[in-house]
Amino acid sequence: MKMIIFASGSGSNAENLIQYFNGSDTEVSAIFCNVESAGVLDRAERLGVPYKLFNREEWKSGNRIDSIIESYNPDLIVLAGFLWLFPERLLAKFPHVINIHPALLPKFGGKGMFGMHVHEAVVAAHETETGITVHWVTAKYDDGAPIFQARCAVTAQDDAHAVANKIHELEMMHFPRVVEEVLKDIAQKA
Ligand code: GAR
Repeated sequence: MKMIIFASGSGSNAENLIQYFNGSDTEVSAIFCNVESAGVLDRAERLGVPYKLFNREEWKSGNRIDSIIESYNPDLIVLAGFLWLFPERLLAKFPHVINIHPALLPKFGGKGMFGMHVHEAVVAAHETETGITVHWVTAKYDDGAPIFQARCAVTAQDDAHAVANKIHELEMMHFPRVVEEVLKDIAQKA
């Protein structure tokens, strides 16, 4: 099985997936990124995974980028800290696209809800728990069917950074295993 990862941030989840599947029969074929300065590109280089940069015009039109994606023929596309909407055009060609979100959707989702903004909103709302959601991707933000959630407590002492650390821990612990399960399901239904 082959997956490609879309990421535009630090890339800790992308690296965790690459390490987890290293030496298995699942290949992380490439990283796709729209931010030239993103940490995920250094990680890809260090780990020997090819990466492809693209810009907004290419993402909107499909020029160049669609044929590059198609050339990898991925069984699964994983969004790991990727912030642009995934277009209908590509969902029609690749129905298996999943995303990881750092909150318990449908809470704290939607446009602008990413990274620290999510954790700040969780603290501001005096939530007593938060967590992570892995879900199928649709052409709307944070909208598709959930696949997996894991929870953690938020205490009155926790600031957004403390929440971010807890979420990071949950993501590192669970995401690769969830991706593995999704790939197994896809293989079984093929
Ligand atoms: C992760 O926490 C992921 O859940 C979040 O971005 C972070 C990326 O970190 N995604 C979103 O907020 C999507 N709305 P990473 O670059 O270190 O993997």
